[in-house]
Amino acid sequence: MTLAIDTFSWVSDLVRKRSAIQLEAGKEYLVESRLLPLARAAGVTDVDAYVRGVRQAGAPSVIEAVVEALTTNETSWFRDSQPFTTLKDHLVPELLADRPMGSGLRIWSAACSSGQEPYSILMVLEDLVTARRLQVLGTDLNQQMVDRARTGRYNQLEINRGLPAPLLVKYFQRSGADWEVAPALRSAATFTKHNLLDAPPSGGPFDVVFLRNVLIYFDLATKRDVLNRIRQVLRPGGYLFLGAAETTIGIDDRWERVSHGKGSVYRLAAGRAA
Ligand SMILES: C[S@@+](CC[C@H](N)C(=O)[O-])C[C@H]1O[C@@H](n2cnc3c(N)ncnc32)[C@H](O)[C@@H]1O
Repeated sequence: MTLAIDTFSWVSDLVRKRSAIQLEAGKEYLVESRLLPLARAAGVTDVDAYVRGVRQAGAPSVIEAVVEALTTNETSWFRDSQPFTTLKDHLVPELLADRPMGSGLRIWSAACSSGQEPYSILMVLEDLVTARRLQVLGTDLNQQMVDRARTGRYNQLEINRGLPAPLLVKYFQRSGADWEVAPALRSAATFTKHNLLDAPPSGGPFDVVFLRNVLIYFDLATKRDVLNRIRQVLRPGGYLFLGAAETTIGIDDRWERVSHGKGSVYRLAAGRAA
């Protein structure tokens, strides 16, 4: 069955206002397939009727569940691999060289979904974790993802998506049919719910921010606003990673792209940080 125009426009307005995610015409199938499980759980078989009910008397938690259902949480371990190599081989040595001996680094993994990105950062920088010189903050709009990241528990299918076997053996332990991240890594990570439309989370300033595969869902004005807020919490000389299909070019010229081997990363251009 097809979704009523009115249902689609109410849901897409709600999602745009609450998360900035753009659901253009043509995404009706997505709204329907994502909301059908919520409708069924509420004892309603069709999404139009479910949304009518939500519009009339939806509790804040129900409205939030609708928005969360429309987030796309696709992620994997060491996604795109190059950012993790660049971080370890180029950025961390440079950042630490400017620091007093023994001081640490703070990294923010924004829109981190179920946590594979922040845990990948911790694995690649294990030496800093052992020396208690690294804190990683993972945030996401979707509370279910934040809760999952915090538990550090993954099923076999999730593990199979990019985690090399030696790292599985080294950093995970069996928990029933699932795998759990070792406590030593978990204790260097903090997870909290955060909407990129809001003021930056506490815990900064950050030496490096990962903001990957989320700007693609936003319109130009929102991309600009989000980059502006990141700028406020990035330590001078700090770096920003975007997703492979994302860039600051044409959005905010205060950032410059720096190439490291096959990868690139962004930093604030000298004299243009204001
Ligand atoms: C495709 S995942 C990317 C995960 C990870 N960064 C990566 O690259 O693998 C996009 C994430 O952005 C989150 N998201 C969407 N809109 C957001 C917003 N306004 N604030 C914070 N997170 C948001 C979603 O919940 C989702 O988990």
